[in-house]
Amino acid sequence: MTTSQKALLLERRGGAFYEGTRPIPKPGPGELLVKIKAFALNPVDWKIQDLDFPFPKDFPAVLGSDIAGDIVEIGDNVQGWVKGDRVWFQGNLGNSDYAAFQQYTLLPAEFAIKIPANTSYEQASTIPVAFLAAAYGLLAPTPLGAGLANTTLDPQSNFSGSSALVVGGTTSVGQFAIQLLKYLGFSQILAYASGHQSTFLKSLGATDIIDRKKYSLDQLPEVVGQLKTAPIKIVYDAVGTAETQNASLACTPDGETLVSSLPTQVVELGNSGKKFFSPMAVVHLPECREFGKVICGRLEKWVDKGVIKPSPVEMIPAGFQAVIDGLNRLRNNQVSGVKLVGRPDSV
Ligand SMILES: NC(=O)c1ccc[n+]([C@@H]2O[C@H](COP(=O)([O-])OP(=O)(O)OC[C@H]3O[C@@H](n4cnc5c(N)ncnc54)[C@H](OP(=O)(O)O)[C@@H]3O)[C@@H](O)[C@H]2O)c1
Repeated sequence: MTTSQKALLLERRGGAFYEGTRPIPKPGPGELLVKIKAFALNPVDWKIQDLDFPFPKDFPAVLGSDIAGDIVEIGDNVQGWVKGDRVWFQGNLGNSDYAAFQQYTLLPAEFAIKIPANTSYEQASTIPVAFLAAAYGLLAPTPLGAGLANTTLDPQSNFSGSSALVVGGTTSVGQFAIQLLKYLGFSQILAYASGHQSTFLKSLGATDIIDRKKYSLDQLPEVVGQLKTAPIKIVYDAVGTAETQNASLACTPDGETLVSSLPTQVVELGNSGKKFFSPMAVVHLPECREFGKVICGRLEKWVDKGVIKPSPVEMIPAGFQAVIDGLNRLRNNQVSGVKLVGRPDSV
């Protein structure tokens, strides 16, 4: 096997991406080396370039954390995996050896998920990051998340007489939040999203679509009040801006829960009794590992059985330049309802 690989590198925070080469890492104990077949793009990848993020610390850095590929090498003390197994997983943006925009990457075997036969590498790569943001926020035990599931991932209580709201239903995170709320048994799942995505969002489990082109965020609490058929138990703000968090908080009844895909921009809970969670949904973080193992252990089955459906895929053109162009489209809010997916093989 060759010892170096092609990669897309970010020269520094605030700097430019460029194509370069770097060593293919060796798997340590408990680790796998994976030949990447597909990776997906996420907003965090352009945010790391533009904003003051605490990670990665070392530059130049490889970014990207939605990964699917084949196991090509196995470290010591790994059981249950063989070379050639198709896996998908969340990469680690804190360490370039574990990131996506390159040809080979490492992963701790405990977070590897087998790709079911009914799923392509490209489809699998759409799931990890956005799904985990939804899963940590809704299912993980408090204080990590809202704790709507128990330790075996069954619903914590009967939600059949409850409504839920997802703000940003067509975001990748929102698509998985809708599917998890359906899995939990909520009788009504309202989604605030572009109206032309209604059929798609209903196929995931949304029951009512509030067209964001027709109703502003200011109008959202009133419209939700008119449409709800049961008390709102939880609101998931998958967009996470100050505007969506404000509107989402206004839609959250006193004593109930708001989850946001981003940390608080504005949320003041006062003495409302409202609860607020904003998960840093990264399985590699010490505080996230335990729930990470539980949820990764369940994903193959959920995807195989169709409980969780991958996001629709839009393949980007061959080459790392296409990753840069794709991140610009995400940065400029020019992607709706699909996940941008690339392949390192074609560079
Ligand atoms: N905490 C975590 O670990 C974590 C993980 C993943 C993502 N995130 C964050 O979560 C956010 C969403 O990420 P993503 O990957 O799901 O994004 P995405 O798929 O790129 O989101 C694009 C979508 O945003 C929707 N949108 C934009 N503004 C909206 C608004 N005001 N109201 C409703 N929908 C709106 C657009 O909807 P239309 O189709 O209607 O145009 C578009 O479909 C990002 O800020 C990301 O950084 C956090």
